[in-house]
Amino acid sequence: MRLVRRIVEVRELVGEARRNGLRIGLVPTMGFLHEGHLSLVDRCRELSDLVVMSIFVNPLQFGPSEDLESYPRDMERDLALAEGRRVDLVFAPANEELYPEPPTAVVAPRRLADRLCGASRPGHFEGVLTVVAKLFGIVQPDVSVFGQKDFQQAVLIQRMVSDLNMAVRVEVAPTVREPDGLAMSSRNAYLSGDERARAVSISQALAWAVAAFRSGERDAGLLRSQIRVRLDAVGGVDVEYVEAVSARDLEPVSSAAADTVMAIAARIGSTRLIDNACLGNPDPGLAKLL
Ligand code: PAJ
Repeated sequence: MRLVRRIVEVRELVGEARRNGLRIGLVPTMGFLHEGHLSLVDRCRELSDLVVMSIFVNPLQFGPSEDLESYPRDMERDLALAEGRRVDLVFAPANEELYPEPPTAVVAPRRLADRLCGASRPGHFEGVLTVVAKLFGIVQPDVSVFGQKDFQQAVLIQRMVSDLNMAVRVEVAPTVREPDGLAMSSRNAYLSGDERARAVSISQALAWAVAAFRSGERDAGLLRSQIRVRLDAVGGVDVEYVEAVSARDLEPVSSAAADTVMAIAARIGSTRLIDNACLGNPDPGLAKLL
């Protein structure tokens, strides 16, 4: 596995691989890797010959009061995990390499970014789309893999690629969970023992909604309010939103269907967690809880 920190080096290595006929895959991450990230590597390897992983905590997507400074980082551990999963190339640039000066041009979503996580994180998705567009420009991957865990992010990236005619296939892989159902996240490292115990209620509430949908419940308002009741009952779970939206266009639905995504954001202590489930096709980790 090669570790490179400079854009010119990535271009050189990837360019040579491409000239040799290899298909290039990219897995963008902010590091502090867990099994969720590594599952994207596995999927990427199925679809490409050279797997590039980027590790970069992107300041552009953090709001002024967010956790940019405290975001967990452990490059040594990340490199060992990436190597163990047979990543070919890790691109871990310094801030100044990607942003030598404040950008003049950015990628700003016009729609779909005002709701769900976007409502409480103004500018967040602009930061995400801009850095992902930059990574696509640097690596020029044939395929790039993202996680369903960050469902709104994945939809916005797919829309960006389509709207801007980028020559990359975007693949979305299922959410990977801890055995009790908690969606893996780098931010889980912030949770105290007590908070960790409460955090499981989020995936449990989603599993309840999937089970209710399977039993024939179609009233999205009822599913949402029942989820809130369940989360409120735990105590110390501060719900930001519970939304039922169409997987296609993120529009809220009143009648739940197989392609409805139930999405939750909640704060436990000072940690903001998100999770979601497709009611008609839940990820295996969630289906196991039923
Ligand atoms: P990060 O939070 O590090 O996540 C990197 C990728 O891993 C994203 O595609 C995310 O959806 C996926 N992922 C995270 N947890 C997962 C889980 N439990 N199961 C499956 N996939 C999971 O998302 C970002 O970084 C950044 O916004 C980024 C796209 C890298 C741009 O800076």
